[in-house]
Amino acid sequence: MAEPTMRAVGVSAFAGPAKYEHLILPIPTITGDEDILVRVKATSLAGPDVARAAGTLRIVQTIKLPVIIGSDFAGTIAAVGSAVTAFRPGDRVFGFTVNGGGAAEYLLLKPHRMLCLAKLPDNISFEDASYFPSTSLTIIQALDAAEAAIPGGLKGKTVFIPAGLSATGSLALQLLKPVYDVKKVITTVSTAKVSRIIELFGEGKVDQTIDYTTQNVVEAIGPQTVDFMLDTCYSSMKYIQIMKPGTGILYTLTGKKGADLREDFPTAPWLVAKILDVANAVQTWRVSRWGVAYKPVFTKMSVYDLQRVGEWAQSGTVKAIVGDTADLADLERVKALATVVEKKNGLGKYIITIE
Ligand SMILES: NC(=O)c1ccc[n+]([C@@H]2O[C@H](COP(=O)([O-])OP(=O)(O)OC[C@H]3O[C@@H](n4cnc5c(N)ncnc54)[C@H](OP(=O)(O)O)[C@@H]3O)[C@@H](O)[C@H]2O)c1
Repeated sequence: MAEPTMRAVGVSAFAGPAKYEHLILPIPTITGDEDILVRVKATSLAGPDVARAAGTLRIVQTIKLPVIIGSDFAGTIAAVGSAVTAFRPGDRVFGFTVNGGGAAEYLLLKPHRMLCLAKLPDNISFEDASYFPSTSLTIIQALDAAEAAIPGGLKGKTVFIPAGLSATGSLALQLLKPVYDVKKVITTVSTAKVSRIIELFGEGKVDQTIDYTTQNVVEAIGPQTVDFMLDTCYSSMKYIQIMKPGTGILYTLTGKKGADLREDFPTAPWLVAKILDVANAVQTWRVSRWGVAYKPVFTKMSVYDLQRVGEWAQSGTVKAIVGDTADLADLERVKALATVVEKKNGLGKYIITIE
């Protein structure tokens, strides 16, 4: 009898979005006691998905072809191995796997360090759910770390997060006031996106939106006024003057320590880890000259953090910010969405739905 097959989108040879293809692959089956098979309903795309398909990430990770895009996913449990007790067939779930594979009808999850899976509350759609996983792990952990590091926590403080409508920025802005009790929230976007901040988040979540393409951001914010900055877009030194000397804290999503890289990717070459360490040491020194503490955010897999974002989404504290969606069957639209992600000029997350 012929093997049952499934549809997926990815590449059979490393390539950019223009060469993404429909793949017909065998439906994976449970072979290990701890395996989990997910019937995927939606997946979102992020920079690493595009980089993995292009082969760029081979510098730190062994990548086998074909590559299926989509690292954040939501769906239902189709089958589980005999040792799995946390999930059963039919459960609604959402999660992240560093190996991708979400843009397919079925995703086989084998236990590994960079995998995170949680139950999905009933009132969150699969499409919305796929916005959250990797973004929320990163953002919640960055904000929790700042909360712990700043004397008195983030409550009552002034916080600046540039690129407020990026995948990561769009979640962070929604959490700062309701969860961390921040006093003043400041962000930057380009001209066409200025009005979208109020449209998408409503009044009261963001106090100051600056058009970084036409305004002087440092002047608009004011020197030495910001307690915490989370850099989402390589802007640490460009805006360093806004930080309060002596107490200011600057975390970045755009750097990594060598040891953290090798914890995530044990086969990453020693030299790449060393180069990251040197770059990080230089950046820490440059920032410290302004009396500001600096560190790259290291994201860990945390079911607890996924559950927290699920609760916040259920209660309406946060919502998915979706730039656009495409059905898996519509290859040209999927390619167009991946091209926006590759160009880094989108809004929120780009989502592929799977019937
Ligand atoms: N996506 C995730 O789930 C995720 C998870 C963990 C970590 N990260 C890391 O977090 C960082 C940010 O990723 P991301 O996915 O959030 O980025 P992204 O969504 O791809 O960023 C695109 C957005 O950034 C804006 N932007 C670009 N340059 C800007 C600048 N100089 N000033 C202000 N806005 C700017 C763009 O707006 P305009 O077009 O208007 O300029 C666009 O809205 C990356 O280092 C990524 O590796 C991402």
